[in-house]
Amino acid sequence: MNSFMSWVGGKKALREQIVSMFPVNYSKYVEVFGGGGWVLFHKPPGRDFEVYNDLNGLLVNLYRCVRDKHEELIAELKYVLNSRVDFKRAKATLAKRGKKSQVKKAALFYQLVRYSYASALTSFAAQPHDIWSDFPLIEQAHRRLKDVVIEHQDFEKLIHNCDGPETLFYCDPPYHNTEKFYKNIGEKGFTEKDHIRLRDTLFGIEGKFILSYNDDEFIRELYTAPGIYIVETSRLHQMRQRYEANSQFPELIITNYEPFERSRLQPEQIALF
Ligand SMILES: C[S@@+](CC[C@H](N)C(=O)[O-])C[C@H]1O[C@@H](n2cnc3c(N)ncnc32)[C@H](O)[C@@H]1O
Repeated sequence: MNSFMSWVGGKKALREQIVSMFPVNYSKYVEVFGGGGWVLFHKPPGRDFEVYNDLNGLLVNLYRCVRDKHEELIAELKYVLNSRVDFKRAKATLAKRGKKSQVKKAALFYQLVRYSYASALTSFAAQPHDIWSDFPLIEQAHRRLKDVVIEHQDFEKLIHNCDGPETLFYCDPPYHNTEKFYKNIGEKGFTEKDHIRLRDTLFGIEGKFILSYNDDEFIRELYTAPGIYIVETSRLHQMRQRYEANSQFPELIITNYEPFERSRLQPEQIALF
């Protein structure tokens, strides 16, 4: 299924490939850098304990409202207008100190996600979009998130808390050299030290990890190590499509286990796990 929201760096285009590279055996699934949760929504539910996490408090509040208060959230969104004035007002209200209910905050934040250019929350997109068309997606997401634990922690703490031999961590950190896109409302931003801290944390776990990154020399060097698999892939470069059809954006998928074991099994064999 689809996510109920787009998000900067969302993995809509790579979700199929990422899920196909999951190990066959794990019982706990942790999406460490949750964002729009495209991989979580794509993977089949039901057999594992699932955790969604993000350091952005507004995003986490939105997820919790979608899971626990979706009717109130939809009711709050019903009167939102697709207008520059409304967009600016929502942005100012959200940034202002003072008490706001969780649902009010979630609705303002969702309005910014939906009506900002490239979902970057900053400028008004001025594109046709009817927020009522999102309501069925919110209802679907509400059902899908029913048993998902939603966390709001820095990745290092979360990984330590959730680690174990049966845990699979999916990590989709801010890409190297594009970290500024996540310096928005509610968080500090990701630095070079954080990329190194993530590598050191992942290299110390008992469980398995699958990590997506932009194809970059710094990242390749960080992860070139025994027992680590680096797979090259690519997706359509959305920004460049307008002037260069089929232009590709190179990406890396990195794992600490053999990444093609699932694709070698027959569907009946996978169903046994
Ligand atoms: C590339 S996006 C994830 C996109 C997501 N996979 C999707 O499909 O939409 C990276 C996310 O990491 C979050 N983030 C940034 N720093 C973090 C940290 N220190 N710990 C946990 N999450 C963090 C950002 O808020 C952002 O939502």
